[in-house]
Amino acid sequence: MKRVLIATEKPFAPSALSKISEVIKQAGYEVNLLEKYQSKAELLDAVKTTDALIVRSDKVDRDVLDAAENLKIVVRAGAGYDNVDTTYAKEKAVVVMNTPGQNSNAVAELAIGLAIYGIREFFSGKSGGELRGRTLGLHGYGYVARNVHRIARGFGMKVIVYTRYSKAQATSEGLEVTGSLEELYALSDVVSIHVPAKGEHLKSVSMDILKHLKEDAILVNTARNEVINEDDLCAFMEQRTDVKYLSDIAPDGADAFADKFTGRCYFTPKKIGAQTQEANTNAGVAAAEQIAGFFENGDETFRVNR
Ligand code: 3PG
Repeated sequence: MKRVLIATEKPFAPSALSKISEVIKQAGYEVNLLEKYQSKAELLDAVKTTDALIVRSDKVDRDVLDAAENLKIVVRAGAGYDNVDTTYAKEKAVVVMNTPGQNSNAVAELAIGLAIYGIREFFSGKSGGELRGRTLGLHGYGYVARNVHRIARGFGMKVIVYTRYSKAQATSEGLEVTGSLEELYALSDVVSIHVPAKGEHLKSVSMDILKHLKEDAILVNTARNEVINEDDLCAFMEQRTDVKYLSDIAPDGADAFADKFTGRCYFTPKKIGAQTQEANTNAGVAAAEQIAGFFENGDETFRVNR
């Protein structure tokens, strides 16, 4: 009997977990569970005999791939797979997949929530602002950004976007695509970042881009830390005392940020963008179904390491 390990340092909601387990059992496989583990050693031990692995932001590095001697497939139940060493997995003939779009509404709702928290002065009682009538700039236009666009329209915001890869999608939805990232930052009251932690996006939010931000701009990051040039952001916020930064991923220097920029920054204590029952269910069930599809029919539709 094939074994499927669900290894989640940040567990799925119990209701999601029972649905995910049901799909795995229906396929005739054994479900193994490792939740809230404290050390890499626990993960290395748990993967030893598994045929398939479902993870979230859990690090699947060389050590994990070497320890998992029977492993054929890893599914990252979520969008960003920067936590998986896809190249080494390919070398070891391990298929890596993600579940694109499945948790995107949850992350989008958090992005809007952070924008409201920022514009309302962190619910401090100080007079804030409203989103209606303001311009939202989407940095990237993947599944999360598309949901942010849908929600922001309901708030009466003007939405613009900078994207290299989804221009046709954006224009077909009536969005104005700016000619450059600099232009997006210059025109937006709120910028919401939605690019993956890879390639040209790494540290792409640098001083060269930030310096174009409008007065009183709010920068919201529900993507990844790695897309921010943290030193530049820190230097920029020292110069520009009007700008706010809210993120679902605390920067490496979170304490220094909190000390220096009191009332201008906020970081969730743990990455919670996709932490809803709905997103857990959608992403986790999709992961389980993709594993069954792979083992039973050789389906590699969502493979990311071809
Ligand atoms: C993703 O890439 O899907 C999100 O960042 C969610 O990550 P999580 O599963 O660790 O919450």
